[in-house]
Amino acid sequence: MTELSGGVLRLLARFALCCAVSTGSMAQDGYVGEARCVACHALEQEHWAHTVHAKIFRSNPKNALAEKGCEACHGPGARHLEDATDKTAIIAFTRRRDVPVEAQNAQCLQCHQGGERIFWHGSMHDRSRLSCSDCHNPMAEISASGLLARSSVNDTCFGCHQQQRMEFRKRSHMPLLEGKISCTDCHNPHGSAARPLLKADSVNQLCYTCHSEKRGPFIWEHAPVRKNCLECHLPHGSSQESLLVVARPFLCQQCHANVSHPATLITRSNLPRGAVPDERAFNRSCSNCHAQIHGSNHPSGARFHR
Ligand code: HEC
Ligand code: HEC
Ligand code: HEC
Ligand code: HEC
Ligand code: HEC
Ligand code: HEC
Ligand code: HEC
Ligand code: HEC
Ligand code: HEC
Ligand code: HEC
Repeated sequence: MTELSGGVLRLLARFALCCAVSTGSMAQDGYVGEARCVACHALEQEHWAHTVHAKIFRSNPKNALAEKGCEACHGPGARHLEDATDKTAIIAFTRRRDVPVEAQNAQCLQCHQGGERIFWHGSMHDRSRLSCSDCHNPMAEISASGLLARSSVNDTCFGCHQQQRMEFRKRSHMPLLEGKISCTDCHNPHGSAARPLLKADSVNQLCYTCHSEKRGPFIWEHAPVRKNCLECHLPHGSSQESLLVVARPFLCQQCHANVSHPATLITRSNLPRGAVPDERAFNRSCSNCHAQIHGSNHPSGARFHR
């Protein structure tokens, strides 16, 4: 059955090639022109026609390549017209075909080198052999912007990052599922100078872009805050309040085992049955008194009380 349809396709393609040759419309370089593609791919063309590429390629092509229409991305089509079933005759971007990822990405990078993609080569996504079309589908207007493969940035990322989807569902989390921020507020999926694909030079610089009040400067600095916000916080979501890595007082006790007032474990579990834990374990625990934990500008704020 497949053999039969393959044969029919080949016949069709031969016929198409015949016409191309007889009308003399096929250039030496193998480009056949959009009209030829549309003859067989009318539906794809109809969807593509609404995209930014179609509009710009048709109304205001910036270079000779853009004038090639479909073939700007799919490459010269002559061999494909000879045999539509040949899996490498045309640059296809779907897993159904055998075109190497590097060859696919090179097509897009002809026009999209640099800019946001200055760190693409060698980035985690590049090394993981992602193709541009894992996240982008330029054949139709599926997302409001960015020609994404799914309806939104977050959905596009969740397609592969299930673990992170789960993190954003935890008790405290960045308001991402609520639509206030997206993965690309913090990550550049095309590569970055700072791991993991961060949009800033360091974790702290990233956090300061939205939480600028934590930048200081403070008269009284709390050393770990300057070092890395992730000493105490998780970036996506946490089962503890305020995105904390572990619950207080344990959070603080990891580093402050010996303080002048008792900081030994002051929780229900190591107190006599029925006893009420003291205020160091209550509610916001150590933060009840050390409230300005990110740093203080108060003259008497050395211990971050105010
Ligand atoms: C004579 C009809 C015909 C013409 C003309 C034609 N195609 Fe095709 N094309 C096909 C058929 C049939 C298939 C499916 C072959 C298969 O399933 O193995 C196909 C497959 C493709 C695919 C691969 C789809 C996938 O699986 O990812 C791409 C891309 C493509 N064509 C693009 C083009 C472009 C671009 C042009 C113009 C240069 C063009 N085609 C011209 C018939 C044609
Ligand atoms: C900006 C680059 C670009 C242009 C221009 C372009 N395509 Fe595509 N095309 C792609 C990508 C990327 C995919 C893979 C989409 C996916 O992941 O499903 C694709 C997929 C296809 C497929 C496979 C079926 C599908 O929709 O997944 C066909 C057939 C096809 N294109 C034909 C065409 C034709 C015909 C034109 C011109 C009318 C055209 N393309 C213009 C990039 C392009
Ligand atoms: C011939 C040049 C050319 C090629 C090849 C090309 N593009 Fe584009 N692309 C453009 C132009 C021009 C724009 C319009 C915006 C701009 O000026 O950057 C654009 C815009 C985009 C946008 C932004 C859409 C938006 O809504 O803002 C995305 C995403 C994109 N292209 C992805 C791709 C992918 C993926 C490929 C390969 C499958 C590709 N492009 C191939 C020229 C090209
Ligand atoms: C891991 C997913 C992913 C991969 C892989 C990916 N992109 Fe993107 N790309 C995105 C997202 C998300 C956006 C932002 C869309 C938005 O904010 O609307 C974007 C935006 C763009 C834009 C428009 C904004 C700009 O940067 O000018 C272009 C062009 C683009 N990508 C091209 C590419 C090309 C070319 C490749 C392959 C080398 C590629 N992308 C690979 C996810 C990806
Ligand atoms: C097609 C699958 C796929 C999609 C879609 C995808 N990723 Fe990834 N991503 C990967 C793979 C594979 C890795 C390698 C590490 C791993 O296995 O988790 C990775 C790694 C990462 C990393 C860690 C980088 C590092 O240096 O450790 C970040 C951050 C990331 N992706 C963000 C995103 C964002 C943001 C999006 C959406 C714009 C996205 N990814 C979409 C497959 C994907
Ligand atoms: C508020 C900023 C922010 C947002 C929004 C965000 N991330 Fe992250 N992400 C980070 C930071 C910071 C790290 C570094 C964690 C570390 O070093 O331990 C990270 C790490 C990662 C990693 C590496 C593995 C890991 O979990 O440590 C992946 C993958 C990832 N993010 C994917 C995503 C995806 C997918 C989205 C959107 C659904 C997203 N991130 C949204 C800041 C963010
Ligand atoms: C793109 C902007 C943005 C970036 C970047 C960002 N945040 Fe947030 N963050 C928010 C928003 C919005 C909220 C919710 C605030 C609200 O609802 O009042 C929030 C809330 C928080 C909360 C409180 C959560 C809770 O449950 O009470 C913490 C803690 C936090 N962020 C830490 C960080 C850390 C650490 C970083 C750097 C890894 C970071 N943020 C980067 C936007 C951002
Ligand atoms: C030493 C541990 C620690 C470090 C390091 C730390 N935080 Fe916090 N953060 C906390 C604690 C504890 C809370 C909860 C405060 C409370 O309950 O009053 C908190 C709460 C927050 C909140 C929500 C409440 C508020 O104050 O707005 C944000 C936002 C926040 N931190 C951002 C950051 C940023 C940005 C950094 C890095 C510059 C950072 N944190 C570093 C311990 C820390
Ligand atoms: C990652 C380790 C770390 C964590 C977690 C941490 N701290 Fe600190 N803290 C430090 C360091 C380092 C200093 C500076 C010590 C010094 O100057 O002797 C400091 C200083 C302090 C000081 C001032 C000490 C003084 O001698 O004036 C107080 C108070 C304090 N931390 C309270 C807390 C509280 C409360 C928490 C939990 C919300 C906490 N810390 C979490 C590392 C940490
Ligand atoms: C009832 C209020 C209160 C609570 C709750 C509290 N502290 Fe304190 N803490 C203080 C006061 C007051 C000082 C200053 C003592 C002094 O100057 O002699 C202090 C001093 C400190 C210091 C710096 C001086 C030293 O003794 O090393 C650290 C570190 C500290 N606390 C950590 C913690 C940790 C960790 C917790 C939670 C387990 C905690 N505190 C809970 C009131 C409190």
